[in-house]
Amino acid sequence: MTTQRTLILLKPDAVQRSLRGEILRRIEAKGYEITALAQRTATAEELAAHYAEHEGKPFYAPLVEYMGSAPLVAVVAEGEGVIEGFRSLAGSTNPTSAAPGTIRGDLGREWDLPVIQNLVHGSDSPESAAREIEIWFPGLA
Ligand code: PPS
Repeated sequence: MTTQRTLILLKPDAVQRSLRGEILRRIEAKGYEITALAQRTATAEELAAHYAEHEGKPFYAPLVEYMGSAPLVAVVAEGEGVIEGFRSLAGSTNPTSAAPGTIRGDLGREWDLPVIQNLVHGSDSPESAAREIEIWFPGLA
């Protein structure tokens, strides 16, 4: 396996609940290196690009509204197998059923359904990682 980069978002619920440090600690404790980090409120353009593949799904509009409702933190992390490894750290999509020991399983719950507030996003493939890093950190080599 070769060194990879992944794009991680600490979603607005993670920022509002002051869980940035806890989540970043877990990423670093796993042995991944954080090489870029920026907090800001996402623009409509960034979110449309990031979630383009989900346009038209029932959760798309509430998801984009929630993601743009407050600041988030965009992170690039590097390491061997970091794409799959971070998704294992994150746990499954729904925090109620995510396994204990994962970020979503330990720190998440249902708050405001039907929107799933699940704390983090991680790229799901090398192609997605390259595309998403360019959205959130344009020009990052
Ligand atoms: S799919 O249809 O199987 O591709 O969907 P899934 O992979 O489960 O989720 C894709 C992204 O949409 C988010 N999601 C939601 N957000 C808010 N509310 C609801 N109901 C919802 N359902 C799915 C899910 O967290 C994924 O976003 P990211 O940013 O990757 O976590």
